[in-house]
Amino acid sequence: MVIYISNDEMEKCKKIVVVGSTNVDLIARVSHLPEPGETIGDAEYCLSYGGKGANQAIAAARSGGHVSFISCLGDDAYADTLITSFVDSGIDVDYIQKCVRHSTGIAFIFVAENGENCIAVAPGANNLLRGERMDTILPVIKEADALVLQLEIPYESVISLIEYAHTVDTKIILNPAPAKQIPSYILEKVDILILNETEAMLIAGQSLDFSEPIGIARSLLRRVGQVVILTLGAKGSVIVSDEMEKQIPSYVVNTVDTTGAGDTFCGAFVAQWVEGVDLQDCVQFATAAAALSVTRIGAQVSIPYQKEVIEYYRLLDLQNTYEIIL
Ligand code: RIB
Repeated sequence: MVIYISNDEMEKCKKIVVVGSTNVDLIARVSHLPEPGETIGDAEYCLSYGGKGANQAIAAARSGGHVSFISCLGDDAYADTLITSFVDSGIDVDYIQKCVRHSTGIAFIFVAENGENCIAVAPGANNLLRGERMDTILPVIKEADALVLQLEIPYESVISLIEYAHTVDTKIILNPAPAKQIPSYILEKVDILILNETEAMLIAGQSLDFSEPIGIARSLLRRVGQVVILTLGAKGSVIVSDEMEKQIPSYVVNTVDTTGAGDTFCGAFVAQWVEGVDLQDCVQFATAAAALSVTRIGAQVSIPYQKEVIEYYRLLDLQNTYEIIL
């Protein structure tokens, strides 16, 4: 589906920029995740498209956001297919770069019958999103209302983008995945931190007991700009800001593959939040989008469009708790 909007409508849209990775996901569906040294002989193979940045950009665009995606791809056969898929989701691809003599990032993913996964990434061209390439994207970040970042591109690029976006007053949403430590002087410039339990432990620098998730989110909030959203998988999520704290339950679904669920959550959340939707409603929408995504195999292919999320709400008879932004 290609989405066309007029120039007048474009002017009114809040602008989201996602800077991050793109991967080709090579998926093996297995009965269980292999132990070290184990060979599982009856895996089912499929190829899908992913990368944390690309997944979040697609989730935001399919949730109604006006999204520019900045990423480095290889000059291989995958690049054109990926770009077409971004355009089909309504993403502005003007800042995507194809890097000569490099390959697109590849993620090797095992997905077990219970939906759990483990992933190894060969970053390829994602590692080239650094240095001079960053200078060319600063104007689009300055113009944006929200900048969405993860940690699947060079770490120093993420740090410098946070510092820049902070100086030009573009709101910063960071999903620190894959988990890495972030220095306090950077975290305090992040407006919204969205993270899971593993990432929370790494950022807190200690193991944590998640039986009191609001307390954990609140202690992280002392180090972050405005909001912490701690996602807890099947246990839902918590939101903590200076004005509120709230636990949001998840939905009971038939989980097939959790790959990209966190990315779907982040992208769907940002598309609502940037339009001024109440925080709790944003998280409820993002939770529904992520719940739908885990019912299907693959990352990008499983990310729902806004219409599907809204229909899901209607099915659950929850429409009165959600302000629909069309
Ligand atoms: O978050 C899920 C993503 O992580 C996958 O799509 C894979 O590409 C890895 O980057």
